[in-house]
Amino acid sequence: MTSGRIIAVETSCDETAVAVVQEGRRIVANVVASQVALHAATGGIVPEVAARAHLRWMIPVLEEAERRSGISDWSDVEAVAVTEGPGLAGSLLVGITMAKTLAYVHGLPLVPVNHLEGHIYAAWLLDHDDPDRPAPEFPVVALVVSGGHTFLVEMTDHLTYRLLGQTVDDAAGEAFDKVGRLLGLPYPGGPAIMRAAAAAQRRDRQFPRAWLGETFDFSFSGLKTAARRAIEAEAGASVDGSSNGEGPGVRPGTRAETAENSDGLPEPVVAELAYAFQESVVDVLATKTGLAAERCAARTIILGGGVAANTVLRDRIAARAAALGIPLVVPRPALCTDNAAMIGAAGFFRTRAGTRAPRDLDARPSLKLAV
Ligand code: KG4
Ligand code: ZN
Repeated sequence: MTSGRIIAVETSCDETAVAVVQEGRRIVANVVASQVALHAATGGIVPEVAARAHLRWMIPVLEEAERRSGISDWSDVEAVAVTEGPGLAGSLLVGITMAKTLAYVHGLPLVPVNHLEGHIYAAWLLDHDDPDRPAPEFPVVALVVSGGHTFLVEMTDHLTYRLLGQTVDDAAGEAFDKVGRLLGLPYPGGPAIMRAAAAAQRRDRQFPRAWLGETFDFSFSGLKTAARRAIEAEAGASVDGSSNGEGPGVRPGTRAETAENSDGLPEPVVAELAYAFQESVVDVLATKTGLAAERCAARTIILGGGVAANTVLRDRIAARAAALGIPLVVPRPALCTDNAAMIGAAGFFRTRAGTRAPRDLDARPSLKLAV
């Protein structure tokens, strides 16, 4: 059967997802059960809680994808694609077991997909408002920025990756989440920081940028420390300020009139710090991506991963791409965060390239995309 119709399963982290994708591009069904609310209570993901939630939602999500795609007799499904890694072992195992079972029962090939290539292949997916968009042209330079990964790769063809640079410490999303927590913002920190930053009145505070020389590597731990120190200094200032009403660090007109966040920082200060932090991350990511695209004579820039949902980052990289006269392809936010449609897109090209999972396919929590 060469229908081009792939069913895909993704459970690498905290979204239970099943999708049906046609020819690697058209989304027939895309069902995602998010655990964000569950993990918000603990301020982060507890692996065993995530794995059990996948177990709870796997079948309902599959049934919903079957219903929406109308594939109930499975006669026109070409292959089952599944995320084999990287990710949380217990989470991955649930999706892999589901996909193995489907492939076995329906006599279909099982095709393993790297979660990170999924984030890149989200750029191949078509949207309702853009149904005729041409496929990205190679060479592609792709920036993947998620909660667990931050790297730049060059693709000269399908499924061919050359690593240009990667984070030497925290992932960009991880930095957003940690600083969000320090600022007393809700989990996940990325969207919360973006919202807070948009309201910033003062925009002149500077946080450090780690350029790491001429490399395409990234580092966010120094920035995180700088943000923590600034937050602590402000928290101290606002405690001082509340004792006499006008202590050092208290800006006239902020404390008295404005709400405070859960940690007692005035909202304008939270906004100002969120803005400075986001600017530092975005500046480094956009500058390095632009330079990499220039160096590789890229014909397309792709941006993927959860942090690509950040509109400031999208706009900044779009400006870089425009300056180079090449398109930037960024999936809509729901396709930037974890989903199975992106695994179906990559899975289609893997299916056609002949990639097949061994019968004893296991989770690969530390799987790399390229070295
Ligand atoms: O790709 P993803 O859904 O999961 C992983 O594979 O990690 O990425 C999740 C990450 C989280 O760190 C979250 O804070 C971040 O993406 N994120 C954002 C935004 N939306 C999600 N970061 C910055 N701005 C956003 N709007
Ligand atoms: Zn991801």
